[in-house]
Amino acid sequence: MNLNLLNVCIDEKIATVEINRPKALNALNSELLTEMGELFASLNTNSEVGCIVLTGSGDKSFVAGADIKEMTDLGESDALKMSKKGQDVFLQIETCSKPVIAAVNGYALGGGFELALACDVIIASDKAQFGLPEVSLGLIPGYGGTQRLARIVGAQKAKRLIFSGEMLPANLAYDWGVATQVVASDELMATCMKLAKKIVKQAPLAISFAKQSIANGYDTTLGEGLGIESHFFAKTFTTNDKSEGVTAFIEKRKPQFKGN
Ligand code: CAA
Repeated sequence: MNLNLLNVCIDEKIATVEINRPKALNALNSELLTEMGELFASLNTNSEVGCIVLTGSGDKSFVAGADIKEMTDLGESDALKMSKKGQDVFLQIETCSKPVIAAVNGYALGGGFELALACDVIIASDKAQFGLPEVSLGLIPGYGGTQRLARIVGAQKAKRLIFSGEMLPANLAYDWGVATQVVASDELMATCMKLAKKIVKQAPLAISFAKQSIANGYDTTLGEGLGIESHFFAKTFTTNDKSEGVTAFIEKRKPQFKGN
């Protein structure tokens, strides 16, 4: 895999992925989206990876949106393809079998906010600013923003942000339930790594089943959701990790999970 715009480091089962286009505030151009799709396809099946931390290079921006300069000559059918491509890549991230933590280090605007919303957990620096300013360009969010934001914060708050284009500072993003934690900017990566280290100590298949159970049950009725949960709960009983986890508890020792 040839990655020009993403830096990847895998250490102790944690993959740190840095979006590396600082001169454009890490705006997502077509090449970057292609690289991201290829990378997540490979991380998804990499048994050496148990958790992914995604961040932006530099101290100013996570991602300042889709690349506006690539949009000048697009017509309707090109825009449809562009939107589908971004949505497909973000869906890959959302459905990745490993948890993905967004370490939001600055601006998360437009496609950048949409990218963070596709991750499992958002941890924000106190300098982070979230927004969907597309209407100021005569566009609307096209990488899932109208759908995921409304599901997370409710339609009213989503409409307020999308209609006004205003930015949501980190503390308000926390109050609205977008970010799970806000920390000083120089503590952002250490905080994310601390959480990632806790995650990679757990049973990987159990995490993947829990992730699928939450995702598959989210938009259904409670009854259907409980059925989905029972299905995945039962599946954990087919794994060696479940035997190991339960036995280790009884034997008063730490479990050695193997991901099978
Ligand atoms: N696309 C392309 N280039 C971008 C960019 C973007 N989304 N955001 C910033 N840049 C570039 C700027 O053009 C500039 O490049 P040059 O030096 O070559 O001129 C460089 O990054 C630095 O940006 P600024 O000089 O503007 O930096 P600033 O500190 O004055 O402002 C900012 C920072 C408020 C984030 C401002 O850059 C900005 O408003 N960016 C655009 C944000 C935006 O509208 N995002 C939504 C994009 S549309 C979208 O994402 C659609 C979708 O849902 C799919």
